[in-house]
Amino acid sequence: MGFFDEPFDLTTAAEGRVEGIAKVTGGGKYAAEYKVNGLCHAVLVGSTVAAGTILNINTNNAKQVAGVLGIITHLQKPLVPGMANEEKIKEARFGLPIFHTDKIYFKGQPIALVIAETLEDATYAASLVTAEYKEDTKIVDFNGALASVSLTPAGKDRGDIAALNNAAQTIEAEYNIKAEVHNPMEMHATIAEWIADDKLKLFDKNQGVNNVQRTFAKLFNIPVDNIEVISEFVGGGFGSGLRVWPHALACIMAAKLVKRPVKLMLTRPQMFHSVGYRPASWQKIKLGANADGKFVGIHHQAKNGTSFYENFNEGITRVTRLIYHFDNLKAEAATVPLNLSTPTWMRGPGDCTGDFAIESAIDELSYKLNIDPIDLRMKNLALAKHPDSGLPWSTNYINECIEKGAQMINWKDRKATHSQNVNGDWSIGYGMAVGAWNAGRGTASAGIQMQKDGTLTVQTAMTDIGTGTGISMQNIAHESTGISKSKIKIELGNSNLPPAPSQGGSNGLSSIGGAVVAAVAALKLKLAAYAASQNEAYKNATAADILMSDNGISFKTANNQFISFTSLWEKNKLAILEVEASSGPGTERQKYAFCSSAAHFCKVRVNRKTGKVKIERLVTVSDGGKIISEKAAANQMSGAAVGGIGMALMEEQATDERLGTLVGNDFAGYHFPVNADAPIIEVAFINKPDPNINPQGSKGLGEVGIIGTAAAIANAIYNATGKRLRDLPITPDKVL
Ligand code: MOS
Repeated sequence: MGFFDEPFDLTTAAEGRVEGIAKVTGGGKYAAEYKVNGLCHAVLVGSTVAAGTILNINTNNAKQVAGVLGIITHLQKPLVPGMANEEKIKEARFGLPIFHTDKIYFKGQPIALVIAETLEDATYAASLVTAEYKEDTKIVDFNGALASVSLTPAGKDRGDIAALNNAAQTIEAEYNIKAEVHNPMEMHATIAEWIADDKLKLFDKNQGVNNVQRTFAKLFNIPVDNIEVISEFVGGGFGSGLRVWPHALACIMAAKLVKRPVKLMLTRPQMFHSVGYRPASWQKIKLGANADGKFVGIHHQAKNGTSFYENFNEGITRVTRLIYHFDNLKAEAATVPLNLSTPTWMRGPGDCTGDFAIESAIDELSYKLNIDPIDLRMKNLALAKHPDSGLPWSTNYINECIEKGAQMINWKDRKATHSQNVNGDWSIGYGMAVGAWNAGRGTASAGIQMQKDGTLTVQTAMTDIGTGTGISMQNIAHESTGISKSKIKIELGNSNLPPAPSQGGSNGLSSIGGAVVAAVAALKLKLAAYAASQNEAYKNATAADILMSDNGISFKTANNQFISFTSLWEKNKLAILEVEASSGPGTERQKYAFCSSAAHFCKVRVNRKTGKVKIERLVTVSDGGKIISEKAAANQMSGAAVGGIGMALMEEQATDERLGTLVGNDFAGYHFPVNADAPIIEVAFINKPDPNINPQGSKGLGEVGIIGTAAAIANAIYNATGKRLRDLPITPDKVL
């Protein structure tokens, strides 16, 4: 799309984002960067065993360190009302009852928190805290523990998969994916300050300030409005900020104990076990088709890892019911408890895992049937209606994504036989896969403050985790008012602003767009009400009839009489005009099903001597309804594609069964793609508005960028080498 082709220029680059200049010049403040008077620092101490019970904790040496202000352990905990007893802990559904239990569930689990004047004092003192444990047998090996849990039905069966026995061709195979870690660039951090006994202020890294508010209001038994959460800049999330994690609670407990503002920032190694991860998974697929390629049915079994203190089910087989039509379908799932922290949603959660297995199996089947993988998919897409609910799709252009992507990558150059693909030490291969995601929408609110000079400030509590929510809101406000973008300011990521859902599940823009449109309509009506004093006809104005410009308004049925903002403001003695409106899904969800979709195409080069896989080209075409900001959308898709390369080739949260430890809990040991590993991602959009999902017609894009990418790469590797690799990541040792 030319996004990366443009020469880098600070001014044009910044134009793409309302927060661009602040971000690239260091002006944007992330949670840990706020200056707060009297701030002190907290450092977590982690358990050195993976399973067992704490017998005692020795904090004496740590207490002697100059500058230490306090130490929290489960023995001296400041009481969190919502964790006062076992029952309340269960009710709170917070997850790990940090400092409210002597049980150890995973290595690195916080057992103490040291608060000191400086980060250095706190870090040193934390190193002096020791503990004795009664160790239990630990289980961290996901594949070793697989057999210990039984599958149960995941949704209703369709037809009878016994029909697979009569299919012309079947594939039956197992797929394993290692756990992956979000690792946003900005580490999770909280600054907590108790303004009064029941009033709390937080600077916090998260993906939803209202969710943080609600969580702590419940735990501390204080009104939601007594908690202010500021998350104005968020340096990536990928799902790690969709929950409220124990470290944030620890920070708040510390602030209460020392009666001062406290900052707690996770270290990079702590990030690996503190804020969730994509769990390890196992899948088995049985897929069959008739000789003409029509699918007979699918049997999809899936298990994913979880912790011993919470059950996290990824929903791996959800996508099995979304893309293709299967007359016969059976899905089963289970979770496997491990001595690890609880996993969570990570970009394309569940679907991108399930999709890898399905799209790999379909590719494998295409070779058996001797049908082009594109043709096989086209024959079986559920294009008319959602295969499970039976509701017609509002819009579904997955077939157009495939057609466009095939053109872009020159699919006709692909040779079906891998022996034809040799070029010196390298084998060339093409692969493709598709992905889809239920396109959601939540209820969100937006506010607008308007000044006499026509300047608008559009506000929402929603965070922008780097997706371009701000620029998209600006574009929608501009489109619906006609006011120049330079006169539209955006404020977000603060719980004092109009409430909004968390930014996740590709729901952000889908939710907030409608709220901006609703707020603009409210603003127009408010302006019309004031204008009525100058022209009676304005009394009957509807929002749709009112036109705005940089300087004033006009109204069709009042002979388009222009009334300037200046005269409106002066006649009515106005200061700042304020409106707030909310908007959410209506009855359309009873009539239609909604999905975003994508097709991913990959050209690889595989070195037969070293097993090195080079991604030569990666094309990603998606249907996200109307594209509101092309640059932000393309940025989302190329970022997701790079995440897909990581999933396919590199990312792996390995565990050491002997020690119960995570292996490689830093950027030296946990590999993900750098520039040399990724080509310029070629991004395109279908860009057709969905008329029913929301006023702006956009469907979420965050997830579909990564759903299918790994399969496209694995399928290209097969096309190049003839080696079917079903375990991710596909490291060189597996290729050889
Ligand atoms: Mo994402 S897993 O929707 O932050």
